[in-house]
Amino acid sequence: MSAPAGARRGAVLLPAVAAALLALELVALALPSAAAGASGFRCRPGSRPVLFNFGDSNSDTGGMAAARGWHLERPEGRAFFPRPTGRFCDGRLTIDFLCESLNISYLSPFLKALGSNYSSGANFASAGAATSPRDVPFALHIQVQEFLYFRDRSLELIDQGLSGPIDAQGFKNALYMIDIGQNDVNALLSNLPYDQVIAKFPPILAEIEDAVQTLYSNGSRNFWIHGTGALGCLPQKLSIPRKNDSDLDQYGCLKTYNRAAVAFNTALASLCDHLSAQMDDATIVYTDLFPIKYDLIANHTKYGFDKPLMTCCGYGGPPYNYNFNKGCQSKGVTACNDGSKFVSWDGVHLTEAANAIVAKAILSSQYSKPSLKFDQFCRV
Ligand SMILES: *[C@@H]1O[C@H](CO)[C@@H](O)[C@H](O)[C@H]1NC(C)=O
Ligand SMILES: *[C@@H]1O[C@H](CO)[C@@H](O)[C@H](O)[C@H]1NC(C)=O
Ligand SMILES: *[C@@H]1O[C@H](CO)[C@@H](O)[C@H](O)[C@H]1NC(C)=O
Ligand SMILES: *[C@@H]1O[C@H](CO)[C@@H](O)[C@H](O)[C@H]1NC(C)=O
Ligand SMILES: *[C@@H]1O[C@H](CO)[C@@H](O)[C@H](O)[C@H]1NC(C)=O
Repeated sequence: MSAPAGARRGAVLLPAVAAALLALELVALALPSAAAGASGFRCRPGSRPVLFNFGDSNSDTGGMAAARGWHLERPEGRAFFPRPTGRFCDGRLTIDFLCESLNISYLSPFLKALGSNYSSGANFASAGAATSPRDVPFALHIQVQEFLYFRDRSLELIDQGLSGPIDAQGFKNALYMIDIGQNDVNALLSNLPYDQVIAKFPPILAEIEDAVQTLYSNGSRNFWIHGTGALGCLPQKLSIPRKNDSDLDQYGCLKTYNRAAVAFNTALASLCDHLSAQMDDATIVYTDLFPIKYDLIANHTKYGFDKPLMTCCGYGGPPYNYNFNKGCQSKGVTACNDGSKFVSWDGVHLTEAANAIVAKAILSSQYSKPSLKFDQFCRV
C-alpha cells in the first residue's frame, strides 16, 4: 500500500456541470470460513490475479458516468489522475489502492466502451446503487447479471478461438468483492425511526445472500465482502437540520446513523458466517469498514486531517461546508486547497488521502474475519 497521495496542488475550482449527485455509500463485509483458515485463496501457478467488484459509488471507477454520459469536471480526480475519471473523489478510491497492492491495473468499468482492459477483471459498481429495488439499473442483482453476461461472452470468444479477457480458470480463481448497502441503509434512515430501520435489514441482506449464491452456483469461490462505514460522520447527514445536538457523540457524529451502520454490519457479518458454513469449499472474508472509517474521524490528527467533519469540495462554509442543492459539481462551488487535510471529499465520499488509509487498514487484515491477507487469493 502506498502512502496517501500527495494531494497538494492549489485548488483551481472549475464550475462544474450540474451532474446529479447521487448519495452513495459503501459496505464491506466478510465472513469466516472453517475451510479458509489454512489455505486461503489460490490461483493456478503463473496466473495473474483477477478481481470482480460489485457496489456503489464508493467503488465505482467510472461505470455510472459511462452509462449515463456524465461529463464530470475537475476538481474530480485532481489529486492523482489528474482529471475526472467518473470516480467521485479527488483521486484514487479504496479499490484502486487494493488493485495497486496486487500489482494489477485499476479495474475498468464494465460499461466503459473506450480504453478499457478487462484482463485483470471488471468493475460493476455503479454510483447510487443499492440492493433494492432489485430489477433497476444498477442494483446489485443487475450487476450480478451483468457479470454473468460478461463471463458468457468472454468464454464464448475463447471457444471461438478468439481472445477473451478471462478464461474459465480465471473466473473460478478470481476474487469477488461486494461493497454495497450504504444507500439502502441511508434511504431507510431518512424515512423511518431507528427501530423500524433495523426491522428492514433482512431484505437487504437477502439480496446480498442471493448475489453470493448466484455467483457461487456459477463457480465463484473467493468472496470479499465489505461492511458499511460511519454514516453518522458524513457531512451530508450532519447537515440535515436538527432540533438540538443530543444525538451527537463526542466526535460530533450522529449516534443514530452510526448505531444503524453497526447493526447492519453485525447482521452482515453473521450472514457471512452463515454462508461460509453453507459453502464449505468457498472462502468468504468479511471486512468491517465501520471501525476503520470511525477511526479516521476520532483519531483524525494522527492521520494529518484538520477538518474531519467538513467537506473539501462543497458549499456553505463551516462547520460542514455541505449544501444539498450545491454539490461538488455545481456552479459556484469551490474546493479546498489541500484535500489531504480532509476526510470528506464531497460530503458523501472520502478523499483519496482517506481512501489510502482505509485500504491500508483493509490490507492489515485486522478488521477481517477470517483474517486472511488480501493478496493471498492469487499470487503471481
Ligand atoms: C508487486 O510488485 C512488487 C515490485 O515489483 C513486488 O515487490 C511485490 O511482491 C508484488 N506484489 C504482488 C502481490 O505480486
Ligand atoms: C491489458 O492489460 C494486460 C495486463 O496488464 C496487458 O498485458 C495487456 O497488454 C493489456 N492489453 C491492452 C490491449 O492494453
Ligand atoms: C448461474 O446462476 C444462475 C442463477 O443462480 C443459474 O440459473 C445458472 O444455472 C447458473 N449457471 C451455471 C453455469 O451454473
Ligand atoms: C432534543 O431533541 C430530541 C428530539 O429530536 C428530544 O427528544 C429531546 O428531548 C431534545 N432535548 C433537549 C434537551 O431539548
Ligand atoms: C483511536 O486510536 C486509538 C489508538 O490507536 C484506538 O485505541 C481507538 O480505538 C481509536 N478510536 C476510535 C474511535 O477508533
